[in-house]
Amino acid sequence: MTDSTAEHVGVYAPPAEFVAGANVKADEYERADADYLSFWAEQSRELVDWNEDFGEVLDWSNPPFAQWFVGGKLNVAYNCLDRHVIAGNGDRVAINFEGEPGDSRTFTYAQLLAEVSKTANTLTDLGVRAGDRVAIYLPMIPETMISMLACARLGAAHSVVFGGFSSDALRSRIIDAEARVVITADGSYRRTKATSLKPAVDAALSHGDTSVETVLVVRRTGQDIDMVDGRDQWWHDAVETASPEHECEFFDSENPLFILYTSGTTGKPKGILHTSGGYLTQVLYSMKAVFDIKPESDVFWCTADVGWVTGHSYVTYGPLAAGVSQIVYEGTPDTPHQGRWWEIVEKYKATILYAAPTAIRTFMKWGEEIPEKYDLSSLRLLGSVGEPINPEAWRWYHRVIGGERCPIVDTWWQTETGAHMIAPLPGAMSTKPGSSQRSIPGISVDVVDDEGNSPAGPEGGLLVIRQPWPSMLRGIWKDPERFKETYWSRFEDTYFAGDGARRDEDGDIWFLGRVDDVMNVSGHRLSTTEIESSLVAHPYVAEAAVVGAADETSGQAVVGFVIVVDGVENTAETAAELRQHVGKDIGPIAKPKQVHIVSELPKTRSGKIMRRLLKDVAEHREVGDSSTLADSSVMDLIEESVAKS
Ligand code: WT7
Repeated sequence: MTDSTAEHVGVYAPPAEFVAGANVKADEYERADADYLSFWAEQSRELVDWNEDFGEVLDWSNPPFAQWFVGGKLNVAYNCLDRHVIAGNGDRVAINFEGEPGDSRTFTYAQLLAEVSKTANTLTDLGVRAGDRVAIYLPMIPETMISMLACARLGAAHSVVFGGFSSDALRSRIIDAEARVVITADGSYRRTKATSLKPAVDAALSHGDTSVETVLVVRRTGQDIDMVDGRDQWWHDAVETASPEHECEFFDSENPLFILYTSGTTGKPKGILHTSGGYLTQVLYSMKAVFDIKPESDVFWCTADVGWVTGHSYVTYGPLAAGVSQIVYEGTPDTPHQGRWWEIVEKYKATILYAAPTAIRTFMKWGEEIPEKYDLSSLRLLGSVGEPINPEAWRWYHRVIGGERCPIVDTWWQTETGAHMIAPLPGAMSTKPGSSQRSIPGISVDVVDDEGNSPAGPEGGLLVIRQPWPSMLRGIWKDPERFKETYWSRFEDTYFAGDGARRDEDGDIWFLGRVDDVMNVSGHRLSTTEIESSLVAHPYVAEAAVVGAADETSGQAVVGFVIVVDGVENTAETAAELRQHVGKDIGPIAKPKQVHIVSELPKTRSGKIMRRLLKDVAEHREVGDSSTLADSSVMDLIEESVAKS
């Protein structure tokens, strides 16, 4: 990761054929800049089926609370399903599902509409109404997307909780969103084993103090589970017998579509709220402009789990609203062998692949002879998301996977932004390894210094978004003050993203990682504070500090430093127990790669932990300026303990 200067990476021109057929050309930027509101209104009317047209494009009279496409009415599920069937494309494959054990299922758009209608009827029978919330705790199976679309069809908001999260994490999300129904499965397949999900739901609801009335359970693995009388119902009993006809209602443009919890700088996850018309508009625009989607011929594959925003926007809503065929894969990339992804690309003739840099770096480690065994010639475009892609991984992706013919779009966005914000348009420019380049048409980003001045110096500054955008978050669920404070208080009327960035001499943007206490592990966002709270909750721990240390494969890795209570020994077993504890408490992705037991933590005179210094230790660097520490000898003690552990 040393060659990350623009001058050294070169640029890659798209093939002439790609340029000739591209959906969007370079002139789009100018048109959008001329009047960004008219631009978005035009995109929205072209890409979304509105049942009632909107009036005002943007109501920004009460910033930062935005309303887009005011007064318009639509149904998001109708846009993902019915309209394709009505247009005569009901026989087109919507989902090619590939289970980890090798089972597969195919749904055409007409079949998917029938399944979603059945589910919407079932949820209606269970009392779900527009404005309610439904929690979805499912693996990567078609029922997950079917459940999301059924909620959208009814105007109820879903809150998808990643299947890798613990019962406590699920519980706090169910309570915060006041979910009425939970949809889950008995379990799923991961690395050939059937892992369980339903027991976590039982544990989450065991205190009897939630608003959940019904748990709908999909049978995926057939493992034994407990069913609670009067509360739990099998999906195959309830949904399979429901009517496949469902007349949908049309809802306001600002009707909530989903809540998705993400880690912030404080312990409690934030419920990011997205609504309907603006979200769908920008997601669809990115499908057209960034992914250059051709619904009649493309086979799209976004490898993200639906539990993350990437899965919401580019597994469920984007591809289906665009009417393209897509691949959904349940499992891990190395089951039953390290060529599984490439086998899937070959089998379904994927044309567009969207993946995280951490996966690319893992494949690099496994060796290029693995993908070389498969026919990847169907691919025409590659995408990257979740964290900066280092130029070396970019070039490997371009050469080995893309056969030097596929442009790579490095897409920067966030749970909060809902859809792509910064990414090259593949038919309109040459791409540059390691840089997301520039904001998409209609979006205005900038890099400013600490005082908010633009341009920031050559060493970079903070990424901000200057104008509201259609798929922007509408708030933090039930916490308007935190919404203002987190994103809109640093600079006036400007969205503060929390990322460091710099521009090169071409004006292209390079990301420098988070500037707050948020870590990025394998493209997943984790909060240092949340993991610290988990460590401190363990009886062994007196104090804890957590940092994200640079890691070759996962981007960052969680490294904990803890002071244990008297009587607990500094042994490998203690450290292992603490790592396990976090894995159980929050979920396996949060499990620290290392826990160092130390006698002191570096603190300023005011008691603030200087994580920057711990990061130096974790990254095996010389420790930086420690002059503001209350006791500067502490760093020596810490380095000693770490060397021993
Ligand atoms: C954070 C958002 C976007 C969906 C997946 C993550 C980092 C995301 C990139 C990229 C550099 C990136 C940022 C951002 N990030 N994409 N292409 N280059 N950094 O969503 O969990 O909300 O995390 O991920 O730091 O703020 P998320």
